[in-house]
Amino acid sequence: MELSRITSQFFESVIREMTRVADENPGTINLAQGFPDFAAPVSIKNTAIDAIQRDINQYSITWGSRKLREALTEKVARYNRLDSIDPNKNVTITCGSTEAMIASLKAVINPGDEVIVFLPRYENYGPDCLLSGATPRFISLKPPEYSIDFDELASLFNENTKAIIINTPNNPTGKVFEREELESIAELCLRHDSLAITDEIYEHILYDGREHISIASLPGMQDNSITVNSISKTYSLTGWRVGWAIASARISREIKKVHDFLTVGAPAPLQEAAAFALSMDRDYYDGLQEFYRDARDTLYDALCDTPLNPIKPYGAYYIMCDCEEFMKSHGIRTSADLAMYLIREASIATVPGSSFYENPGDGDSQTRFCFCKKKETLEAAIKNLMKIR
Ligand SMILES: Cc1ncc(COP(=O)(O)O)c(C=O)c1O
Repeated sequence: MELSRITSQFFESVIREMTRVADENPGTINLAQGFPDFAAPVSIKNTAIDAIQRDINQYSITWGSRKLREALTEKVARYNRLDSIDPNKNVTITCGSTEAMIASLKAVINPGDEVIVFLPRYENYGPDCLLSGATPRFISLKPPEYSIDFDELASLFNENTKAIIINTPNNPTGKVFEREELESIAELCLRHDSLAITDEIYEHILYDGREHISIASLPGMQDNSITVNSISKTYSLTGWRVGWAIASARISREIKKVHDFLTVGAPAPLQEAAAFALSMDRDYYDGLQEFYRDARDTLYDALCDTPLNPIKPYGAYYIMCDCEEFMKSHGIRTSADLAMYLIREASIATVPGSSFYENPGDGDSQTRFCFCKKKETLEAAIKNLMKIR
């Protein structure tokens, strides 16, 4: 029996696979998959426990509890300058931004539609395009600044371009898209009546004075954007699976239908706690940034003392290393071999660079470290890293 011709075109996530490999190699420090190894904020956890005790344990409204949609509306007006969002018409609460992204694509894509994706890219966007029937068109961000060639980008836009996926702050590169870059992308979207589908899951994790801008806040872009996000990274709650998609009423109606039939709803008591989280004050976000800035500096400085050649990130919590020279001198051929070498020689799990590219060979000299870890975890990892010479 022939199984799906679509699912046979992609593989399980390498990022998630590396966590399994780390678990199978006792003593390995997992700097692969991006999840914190420290406690989530006590006040948010207590709100969830309280919601369960109050018996908020049944399905919420399929597109999200009113309380969470209202808290979100206030938050995006405050932080993202999206000030005319209607919690009833423009918001769909989903199971993480993972579901928000695929539900959004399924809601807008027709056969023949193209979606532009920057490389390197977060792994999910490849399967997301295939599962929604979109034809992906790729454009490379040019290291070390991961800049955009706008002539090349303009040449990719055509009458079939339904959307461009933007991820800022960016995983894996740490690029934070500048206002001028987003304005140029917005101009192309408006000219071709294409959507910007923007994954802003790292919006509060920024360094060196970088500013997060939601493309939906730029003039004319509210109706041409779908803003995807979640509580996973900002509140260190990756296992709770609460996210959202914000879009025009017309697009939201379609996203809500996809979401309803995919998952019915996100976990009800955790939506209560998410509403509380979104109302946290400025100190919380300042503390988060300070913590991650220290973590970035600690790991980046240490990597600079190795031959692994790190590229400094300005947002998110990953560091990409371009290890071409090191690999040549050690006879290591692929990024998968490099990741296994680092597990063997330094007991550190990373993510092979190949998983962030359409053509795996393009990332074969790279590996990605994450630093969303306790100080002690990073110190232990750095001690091990010093074995790499
Ligand atoms: C860019 C990006 N988008 C989405 C996700 C997954 O988000 P969620 O936990 O909200 O599904 C990740 C997780 O690492 C990510 O890096």
